[in-house]
Amino acid sequence: LNKLYTVYKGVYVPTHLHPAESLKFYEEFSFRPDDIIIVTYPKSGTTWMQELVPLIMSGGDPASERPSPRMFATHFHYNMMPTSFFKVKPKAKVLYVMRNPKDVFTSSFHYYGMASYLVKPGSQTEFLHKFLEGKVVFGSWFDHVKGWINAEDKDRIMFISYEEMIMDLKDSVTRMATFLEKPLEDAVIEKIADRCVFKNMKKNKMSNYSLVPSEFMDQKKSEFLRKGVFCFNDVHTVDCKFY
Ligand code: PPS
Repeated sequence: LNKLYTVYKGVYVPTHLHPAESLKFYEEFSFRPDDIIIVTYPKSGTTWMQELVPLIMSGGDPASERPSPRMFATHFHYNMMPTSFFKVKPKAKVLYVMRNPKDVFTSSFHYYGMASYLVKPGSQTEFLHKFLEGKVVFGSWFDHVKGWINAEDKDRIMFISYEEMIMDLKDSVTRMATFLEKPLEDAVIEKIADRCVFKNMKKNKMSNYSLVPSEFMDQKKSEFLRKGVFCFNDVHTVDCKFY
């Protein structure tokens, strides 16, 4: 095992993001009933949701002070969540975003090549084997999705896909706002969706990771907001062999 990774509950986690003391803190963490938790397998739309959810909760105001509720994002599997996640009632709401694994693989391949806290991907074929076997950070995509889809407490989880968000962001925002019990006027939904389309998030230094030091992520190798597409749709077709 490379020192870049730590095994937590049978899954590789990046040591840099989850040193031992943070894992201990995490185990003892107390969720609150009004917390909002974004859950994703890596490269499935985390950053996108981290921009969208606060805007929904602030009624479209990017400069708001962000009072309660608290918002979190995690890549952990269902069975890696701390005890309080299951015990605290009423249960905190979860937004689970899933993305077609082909695109997750492609996005990850580029990301592993540019992020210094991850083991270099090797060739595309080598990385594909690691990806399929779950020998990558946060383990297997398949186990991740299965674990969350089979959650016992599905009524507290909204499942949405990256592809639905690409196809109709306004509708996705509307549904998320309803789930979060924060109904919004049409004009606000429009404003949020516009701010969060790929080209606008890519221009925005608060969301394009350009403030992260280059020794941590080398965006000259591959940009964090790289393509923002998916490969099995008539409208958004890209060359699916490899892009
Ligand atoms: S991470 O490292 O796990 O937090 O990465 P994550 O944010 O989950 O995923 C990164 C991919 O999401 C794309 N992205 C977007 N796509 C469409 N619209 C918006 N607004 C958007 N924001 C981020 C980002 O470009 C990465 O996908 P790829 O395929 O590499 O472009």
